[in-house]
Amino acid sequence: MSSKQQQLVVILGTGGTIAGRAESADDNVGYTAAQLGVEQLVAAVPALASRRLEAHQLAQLDSKDMDFATWQLLARCVAQHLSRPEVGGVVITHGTDTLEETAYFLQRVLAPVKPVVITAAMRPATSLVPDGPQNLLDAVCVANDRYASGVLVAFGGSVFDAEQVRKVHSYRVDAFAAADGARLGLVEEGEVRWLLRTRLPREAIGLARIERDAEQWPRVQIVMNHVGADGSIVHALVAQGLDGIVVAGTGNGTVSTGMEAALREAQSRGVRVLRSTRCDAGPVMDLPGALPSAGSLSPVKARIELQLELLV
Ligand code: SIN
Repeated sequence: MSSKQQQLVVILGTGGTIAGRAESADDNVGYTAAQLGVEQLVAAVPALASRRLEAHQLAQLDSKDMDFATWQLLARCVAQHLSRPEVGGVVITHGTDTLEETAYFLQRVLAPVKPVVITAAMRPATSLVPDGPQNLLDAVCVANDRYASGVLVAFGGSVFDAEQVRKVHSYRVDAFAAADGARLGLVEEGEVRWLLRTRLPREAIGLARIERDAEQWPRVQIVMNHVGADGSIVHALVAQGLDGIVVAGTGNGTVSTGMEAALREAQSRGVRVLRSTRCDAGPVMDLPGALPSAGSLSPVKARIELQLELLV
């Protein structure tokens, strides 16, 4: 065992289905998320008993209700634990529904050198065959791995990076994938088999950028292009007052004539606009004169990127 493998892993609980409870063991959908404490999740995995771990409950929510204040708390807490020399990595238990957004947010704000591994479950802890305990064990193994770095997602035996990871299934236990198919690695019996080397991450935005009271964060909304999209949703949003719009365009980020006109008008009123795609994978290529592209970011991650820019 290397010295890195003996370092302390801090587990931060935030809720989700991994901490969910149902009335009966054969019920995998009619459960309540965020019921069990992180200590209980750790205690349910006998193999974790021999590990150097510390567990803290940071939040207890269904991740559909994740909010900016919790993100602030999480980012600060992760940064504080990572700064402890004895800590080798941090694991976060989370709900699957917005996990990819939290992963992207933490990567952009902290771009940590030490690993921050987010995990979750599709089945509640009370399930006949819960997936949470194995995912948690895998996440701790990844956090202990000497080659792990940055914000990663350990789920269903795979390791993903924060930018590529997406929830792609609403029910199955292999619910996550990398947008362009690039899984970073596999966890096999406690060992990580790396398949890809990651590129150098972009510089951290830093905690100072997210200091502003969460209530005052810029308002950025997502709209979608579709058959019959006429831009009226954009007019309604602009009338309410907002700071940015991400459009989930069709194909290479294309938008209807009406949607384009509405977005250009929004721009002329000072609203920042980013063009993403509603496709499951692939980038939006920039074209001369086109609305600005969000590159390969999914609409929800482009929204975070724009929000972080607008926080300057
Ligand atoms: C949640 O996202 O908190 C609930 C759903 C899940 O974890 O699968």
